[in-house]
Amino acid sequence: MSAARFEPATALRGSLTPPPDKSISHRAAIVAAMGEGETTVHGYLDAADTRSTLDAMRALGAEVEVGEGCDEKRHGGWRNSAHPGGRRPAARGRVDLRIHGVGLRGPRPAAVHVGNAGTLLRLLPGWLAGQPRGEWTLDGDDSIRRRPVDRIVEPLRAMGANVRARNDRLPPLAVRGARLHGIEYRLPVASAQVKSCLLLAALLAEGETTVVEARPTRDHTERMLRAAGAGVRSESAGTPVAIHGELPAGRVLVAPAAALEPGEITVPGDFSSAAFALIAAALVRGSEVRLEGVGLNPGRIGLLGILTRMGAAIEVIETAAAGPEPVGTIVARSGPLEGTRVGAGEVPLAIDELPLLALAGCFGEGETVLTGAAELRHKESDRIATVVAGLRALGAEIEATEDGLVVRGGGGLRGGVLDAHGDHRLAMLGAIAGLASREGVEVRGFEAAGVSYPGFERDLRSLLD
Ligand code: S3P
Repeated sequence: MSAARFEPATALRGSLTPPPDKSISHRAAIVAAMGEGETTVHGYLDAADTRSTLDAMRALGAEVEVGEGCDEKRHGGWRNSAHPGGRRPAARGRVDLRIHGVGLRGPRPAAVHVGNAGTLLRLLPGWLAGQPRGEWTLDGDDSIRRRPVDRIVEPLRAMGANVRARNDRLPPLAVRGARLHGIEYRLPVASAQVKSCLLLAALLAEGETTVVEARPTRDHTERMLRAAGAGVRSESAGTPVAIHGELPAGRVLVAPAAALEPGEITVPGDFSSAAFALIAAALVRGSEVRLEGVGLNPGRIGLLGILTRMGAAIEVIETAAAGPEPVGTIVARSGPLEGTRVGAGEVPLAIDELPLLALAGCFGEGETVLTGAAELRHKESDRIATVVAGLRALGAEIEATEDGLVVRGGGGLRGGVLDAHGDHRLAMLGAIAGLASREGVEVRGFEAAGVSYPGFERDLRSLLD
């Protein structure tokens, strides 16, 4: 286990492009493997989690060619415009891929090891469950073995799938190909992973499948499948706009597909990775950071609305698109913050950034209250417990509740030692806490950051030069 120390910072300044989006990278590899012929993926995330997905696709028979890292002009590494003439770090954490798919009905039987990748664990069974024949097992590391899969087992069975899990609830999973039929399913938990699993299964089912979302989640799968020619329709009970507040309820309708032809997939920068530098800029006095090429999917950017409500100085400039995904530049500056309340409607739109909300809450005047976030207990760690214990050890006034937490902010953080508990987002949270603290933070188990963000430390330090 490695440790890293992050001292209080004077200011963060510069311009960065975050690494490719992890959620979209997983989907790109899976959809390319499901596709006919060759798919080019531009800017795939080269990190532990997404490598597990490439290994899995190879095990299923897809051919994966890994090219060079993308050139910096097109996709950027983390760039620091404060040093325009200086040496820039080489693009890292991103590779181009050529994937020769096995086709919708072509995966070969295999024992799949998903490593630490919850998204792979939840999405892949959707594709495998509808195969005309074959049997697959999915298993992973200790943390994966604690992550619930009943949320996919139950609806897949309702579609006719033959799926078994340990105690009907936990990995390993065994999937045997079966004839599926479309269903209408209302998601009981707001989960893009569960939704995506069902959308993949629906492609192989007889008849139409409808997935109803009371609280919409990221729609990367819908966008990517549509771009690959699948009959996927999203209907919303309102206009799904904006960085403020909640998204209206909606449903996704999927028609069976004969084939997928993704062709080219471009992966935008990961908002969840960008969020660390964004929060650091908001908290450390004198900071101004420009984040470029960041994916701005409405189901991902809830943190921007929350921070704006807290009084943070954030500008969003939507500049382009990476295929079907919106992409833009975010500028974040330091300034005083106030506490806020975040409830169940906003939670799915900021699910992976909620640990950072707790950190920001330590610096905001008054109380920050998070409710409706019990899902955090089922992430790479129990993030309610680990975030509360971690920040409290650094001097925060913070308490866990059953489905969230309460922070009494304004006092900032003293500093100390934070244990990452093998959770990548907690490791990176500890680093940002250190920069914003009075005495610095040592992060134990810092290597976990590489699950989603190789080069995180170097990139962060480039803003401090
Ligand atoms: C993800 C969805 C979220 C998120 C996870 C990635 C995805 O999980 O926390 O990091 O790629 O669909 P849930 O859908 O289970 O909430």
